[in-house]
Amino acid sequence: MSKKKTLGDFQTPVQLARNVVTRLFADGLQWERILEPTCGQGNFIRACVEEAGVREIIGLEIQQSYVKKSKRIHSDAVKVSIHQQDIFDINLAESLEWNSSSPLLVIGNPPWITNAELGRINGNNLPKKSNFHRLSGLEAMTGKSNFDIAEAVWLKLIHEFVNDTVTIALLCKTSVARRVAQFVLQKELPVNSMSLYRIEARRWFNVAVDAGLFKLELNQGEVSYDVAEYDNPVDANHIRTFGFYGRNMVADLDSYRQVADLEGNSRLIWRQGVKHDAAKIMELTYLNGILRNGYGDHVDIETDYLYPLLKSSDVQSVSIGYVPRKYVIATQERVGQQTVHLRENAPKLWRYLSLHADRMDSRKSSIYKNAPRFSMFGIGKYSFQPYKACPVLCRVFSTEMERRC
Ligand SMILES: C[S@@+](CC[C@H](N)C(=O)[O-])C[C@H]1O[C@@H](n2cnc3c(N)ncnc32)[C@H](O)[C@@H]1O
Repeated sequence: MSKKKTLGDFQTPVQLARNVVTRLFADGLQWERILEPTCGQGNFIRACVEEAGVREIIGLEIQQSYVKKSKRIHSDAVKVSIHQQDIFDINLAESLEWNSSSPLLVIGNPPWITNAELGRINGNNLPKKSNFHRLSGLEAMTGKSNFDIAEAVWLKLIHEFVNDTVTIALLCKTSVARRVAQFVLQKELPVNSMSLYRIEARRWFNVAVDAGLFKLELNQGEVSYDVAEYDNPVDANHIRTFGFYGRNMVADLDSYRQVADLEGNSRLIWRQGVKHDAAKIMELTYLNGILRNGYGDHVDIETDYLYPLLKSSDVQSVSIGYVPRKYVIATQERVGQQTVHLRENAPKLWRYLSLHADRMDSRKSSIYKNAPRFSMFGIGKYSFQPYKACPVLCRVFSTEMERRC
C-alpha cells in the first residue's frame, strides 16, 4: 500500500488553509508562536506567516520531500523552522526550542486514518507502544480496537500541553472532535472553550465524511466543556452547541434543556391507550368552551362519555393547572360491550356517531368486524383508573368535565 495512504497524506488546499487561519485570527486571538506538528508541504504555515503579530513558527513533518518544500517558506517578519520529525518520538511541549514563551497556537491537519486501516496496509505510523501507553487516559480512551491517528495526535497534544496557555485547532473528523470533547470532560482538564467549524470534506478532500476545524483552548479562562458548532469557518454562523448534560453527550444542548425534565423514570403510570381508528370523529378539541371534531364541526354531546386525552406532544406541558386541549369519546368500558344503550343514555352522542356512521362502520381493522356498533379496542377496567387511564389530568382537570375523572 502507498506511503501516501499510510501517512494519511492529504495536503490541505491553500484556500482552505487560508480560510482556517483567517477564522482563527478573526476571533480576536493573537499568537506570536505557532506549531504545525504534521506540516506536510506547509500550506498552513504559508497562511500563518501573513498574519500580523506572528513571530515564530515551527513545522514538523515525517516525509523528507515535504520538509524540503516547507523549508522554502521565507518571511522577513517571522522566524520559520522546519524539522523532519516523527511526532510520536518526542514530547512536543518539551523538545522544541522557542524564542519566547508567549501563547501558542497549534494548527494543522493530522492524518485521517484509523489504526485498523493502518493494520490492513501494514502501515507503521502508530505512536510507539511504550510512549503511547504513558499518555494518561489514552488507554481508556483508545483502548478500543479502532481509533483515528488524528485522535492519538489530539490526545498527545492535550496531554503534553496541559499546563500551558495553548490553543489547538486541527482539521479532523467530527467523530474525533466528539471523542476529544468527551475525553477532556472525563479527565476534567482545564479547557475553557471548544468550537467546531464544519467543512465540506467532499469538496476539499474528496472524501465522504463529516469533518471540521475543531478548536480547543487550554488554560485561558473559566472551565467549560460546551462545544459551539458553526456551519463553516468563513461565515461562521452558529448552528447549535453540543456538549454534556451531566456526563452524557448531547447533540443540541439548548433543545435538550427544554425537554430535559422528561428524561428518567416517568412520574406517571402509563397504560395501553385506547384504539378507535377514527380520530377525526372520536377525538375532539376543546377551545373557548366549544368542542370541535377533526372536521372543524361544533360537537354538542353528553360529557359523560368524554375523557381528557393527552397526545405525545402534550406530555411535556403537563403540570398542575394544565387544562387539556383534547378529549376522546369512550363508547364502551370493556371490549365487546354493547353500545346500543347509548341511544337512551346519551342520545346526543348516539346522534353524533350515527351522523358519522359511514366512516365508523368502514373502519378497516378486523377487530371491528362483528363487534357492536361504534366499538373501541384496548379499552378495559384499567382505562378508567384514576391517575392511570388519564394520569395527572384527573387531578388538575378544571373544566366542567372534571367530574368525569
Ligand atoms: C493530512 S496530511 C496534512 C498535511 C498538512 N498538515 C496540511 O494540512 O496540508 C498529514 C501529514 O502528516 C504527516 N505525518 C504523518 N504521520 C506523521 C508523523 N508520525 N509525524 C509527523 N508527520 C506525520 C504526513 O506526511 C502528511 O504530510
